[in-house]
Amino acid sequence: MIELKDVYKTLDGRKILQGLNLHIREGETYVIIGRSGTGKSVTLKNIIGLMKPDSGEVNIMGQCINNMGKEESYALRQKMGVLFQSGALINWLNVEENVALPLVEHQRHLSKSEVQSIVQHKLELVELEHAGKRMPSELSGGMKKRAGLARAIVGNPKIILYDEPTSGLDPVMSNQINDLIISMQEKLGVTSICVTHDMSSAYRIANRIGMIYEGQIIEEGTADQIKNSQNPIVKQFISGSTVGPLTQ
Ligand SMILES: Nc1ncnc2c1ncn2[C@@H]1O[C@H](COP(=O)(O)OP(=O)(O)OP(=O)(O)O)[C@@H](O)[C@H]1O
Ligand SMILES: [Mg+2]
Repeated sequence: MIELKDVYKTLDGRKILQGLNLHIREGETYVIIGRSGTGKSVTLKNIIGLMKPDSGEVNIMGQCINNMGKEESYALRQKMGVLFQSGALINWLNVEENVALPLVEHQRHLSKSEVQSIVQHKLELVELEHAGKRMPSELSGGMKKRAGLARAIVGNPKIILYDEPTSGLDPVMSNQINDLIISMQEKLGVTSICVTHDMSSAYRIANRIGMIYEGQIIEEGTADQIKNSQNPIVKQFISGSTVGPLTQ
């Protein structure tokens, strides 16, 4: 479904991705973990085409996106939903208008009332049904995150990319978002990649977890395999220990 082959990316003279390989199967939820600044968001940006790799290949649903034309990449983009790390709401649009954006852009055949009812349903899923008229500046951090999530899923995408979906949320709301991610997979069969620092969320939602380190996936496996990893880098990361190879 999603494949990155030997992807390299240097930014501002710093080697960020250094031969990254990822192979994500249809219908799975794959969680990427790794320290801050290691290139997790950059990896997602290469998948959605916001960034191009210096070398290597990105294949989405069997299509190589490296040299894709505008129309093709636009069509592919419609099948993907993205929750950006910051929420990335547009400040001058209210919550409903933000959530409706992908529909207004990509599904022009829908009537205004159809759009409204879809948006309302997605807002209910993230418990924002009463905040639709609010502007982004009037939302808490967690509400912004949930509005971003509603926008990511509004077009019933085949692929959803989540960048830190639970950061800044209280523990109960975090679990509600985890459950929502699981139900998107179970009910709609979506394929997801989720970047997170929240290991309890990772263990709960992931079919597989991959850890990125020095520009590559250094270990990959189920939650149990990662919990029992003997790799000292993985062990230090998941335990949060201040002593180990990550802090030398
Ligand atoms: N557009 C850009 N131009 C220059 N450098 C960039 C750009 N985007 C990211 N970087 C750099 O690439 C590195 C990886 O960034 P990235 O956002 O992928 O980190 P991350 O793993 O998502 O970290 P975090 O967990 O803090 O979100 C960082 O050093 C960052 O400064
Ligand atoms: Mg990031």
